[in-house]
This record gives sequence, structure tokens and C-alpha cells, in this order.
Amino acid sequence: MEFTESEFLIETVVPEDELIISRTDLSGKITYANETFCEISGYTQEELIGQPHNIVRHPDMPQEAFADLWQTIQNKKQWIGIVKNMRKDKGFYWIKAIVSGVYKNGELVEYKSLRTPISYEEKLETQRLYDTMRAKNGEKIRRVIYE
Ligand SMILES: Cc1cc2nc3c(=O)[nH]c(=O)nc-3n(C[C@H](O)[C@H](O)[C@H](O)COP(=O)(O)O)c2cc1C
Repeated sequence: MEFTESEFLIETVVPEDELIISRTDLSGKITYANETFCEISGYTQEELIGQPHNIVRHPDMPQEAFADLWQTIQNKKQWIGIVKNMRKDKGFYWIKAIVSGVYKNGELVEYKSLRTPISYEEKLETQRLYDTMRAKNGEKIRRVIYE
């Protein structure tokens, strides 16, 4: 499938009263996605289950954010962060994610993520921050930053 630049610019706004939930195995492959996750991301459950969670990764996300996420959850701590994700149709949506371990008899067996909407101001602020992080680390960015 090919997409024009403008399709990257279409935002799906996450409703206030919805929770986007997914779980992964310890390697980051999706083991569960709720209905809201499917609706917002534009994928069916069948398309998501078994896929690496970077299936929804947006090119604007800095690598550093995910390195921090993995380091945090592998140390059995909770990671809270703002994430811009890419839909199947290449549009995007912003969320705040709380990612942590799922334990069975005290043993870490999976990871889970619960996501809620963020404000317009938080989106703008985080886009700027992530653009700066990407530029600093030599990753591709789609606009010029004057600083
Ligand atoms: C429970 C859980 C949920 C995740 N949710 C997302 C997500 O919504 N979007 C995303 O881009 N990466 C998410 N990740 C991180 C991905 O596994 C992956 O590290 C990230 O997309 C970066 O991709 P890369 O490792 O191929 O660079 C999640 C990881 C876990 C363990």
C-alpha cells in the first residue's frame, strides 16, 4: 500500500471515556488487544495478536523513549509516558501509556499497557520534545528545528 504525505497528518482523537488495553509476551509480541485498541489503531484482533508491538510505532517516536520503556519494565518498574502511535491507515493518535508487568504466582509472565487520552497542549509539547530528541540523536525528523 502507498500513502501520500497528507495521510500521515490525519489524527484519530481518543475518546475520554475509553481505555486502550494490550498485553505482550516478554519479547513484546501482542497477546491481547481490547476492542478499543482495534478501533483506534484500525487493525482487527487477528491482525494484532502475535505481531511485535512496534506494528503501531510512529516514525516520530524517538528510539530513546522505547529504550527507556524496556529498561524500566525489565527492571519490574512501571513506565508512564506519552506515545504517538500510527494507525493501519497511517494516521496517528496520541495517548498516555502506563506499562507494567503481569505477574503469576509472583513471576513476571507478560507486560500490559493501559492508555488514556491527553490534552492538545500535551500533544504539542511532546511533539516538540520528541522532534528535539530525534534531531539530537541523528534520527530523521520531518521539520527543521531552530534553536
Ligand atoms: C506492553 C507494551 C506495550 C507497548 N505499546 C507500544 C505502543 O503502543 N506503541 C509503540 O510504538 N510501542 C509500544 N511498545 C514498545 C514496542 O515493543 C517497541 O519497543 C517499540 O515500538 C519500538 O520499536 P523497535 O523496538 O522496533 O524500535 C510496547 C511494549 C510493551 C511491552
